[in-house]
Amino acid sequence: MTARLVMKLTVAAVRRETDEVMHLELRHPRRPQLPPPSPGAHVDVHLPDGRIRQYSLCGDPDDAGAYRIAIKREAPGRGASRWLHAHVEAGMAIGVSAPRNNFPLAAGAARHVFVAGGIGVTPFVPMAQAALRRGESVTLHYCARSEATAPLLGAVRSIEGLALHTWFGDTVPRVRFDAAALPPPEPGMHLYCCGPARLIDAVRDATAHWPDAQRHFEVFQPTLDEHFKPEPFDVTVASTGQTLRVPADRSALAVLREHGLSLPSSCELGVCGACECGYRDGVVIHRDVVLGPAARQDRMMLCVSRARGGVTLDL
Ligand code: FES
Repeated sequence: MTARLVMKLTVAAVRRETDEVMHLELRHPRRPQLPPPSPGAHVDVHLPDGRIRQYSLCGDPDDAGAYRIAIKREAPGRGASRWLHAHVEAGMAIGVSAPRNNFPLAAGAARHVFVAGGIGVTPFVPMAQAALRRGESVTLHYCARSEATAPLLGAVRSIEGLALHTWFGDTVPRVRFDAAALPPPEPGMHLYCCGPARLIDAVRDATAHWPDAQRHFEVFQPTLDEHFKPEPFDVTVASTGQTLRVPADRSALAVLREHGLSLPSSCELGVCGACECGYRDGVVIHRDVVLGPAARQDRMMLCVSRARGGVTLDL
């Protein structure tokens, strides 16, 4: 695991996308190029009070001169988006990480079907551009309360070759997006969904018969399970053989750091992927929203995931 680069970027432009969504353009104060993003990547935005939030990049994937993000002001959220809406203005400096991609385009795909809900459209703008430039076909189902509240609508409408289907809740007569009407899986076809939990659950349920490797979900909300009762477990560091006890009220990440291991992290909520670590044996209780079923066979997030009994880590 390597620590993630955090840069002080300048807010080069602020644009109001809708009443609830603002669009930021972030540039390095001296360097013309930023670490290049891959389509579907997100950055961590560091607030002055130490909070860190993840935002998908929504700019052209071939433009490494600036990062572009869209931030929705979440009314009941954890407060960070409200702070950003109230305080961010052109010219200010803000801490931004190098991009990380937990939601990449599938390699070798011939056809991509995207399902977006509201602000969940952001990663699909660069993903659609990149896939179309590679000659792959792209369909986007874009759901929003209304045309006026749909962020980046102009950007998606301007993507040449994109098969765009909009589903606005205020259309008369109302026509709802029906996840059950998604096409059946075919070889080379990949489905991606990003949006509110209700939409993601509906798409997950409707595509339960799809091979897991052909379904991809981007979630920035931590798993909430009030019935989960954490138990103590042991972590063994493979390189040294040292075994450490993780108490029920602490994370493996915290215990390992306390014993001198320098490990990266960011959200510490299981949503960003910064603390991902390989493991060799043990039964892991995965509590993140980043890793898919295949990755969970030998990777875990040290900030939230636990184990039954013990686990040996590739450290
Ligand atoms: S620090 Fe973000 S997933 Fe662990």
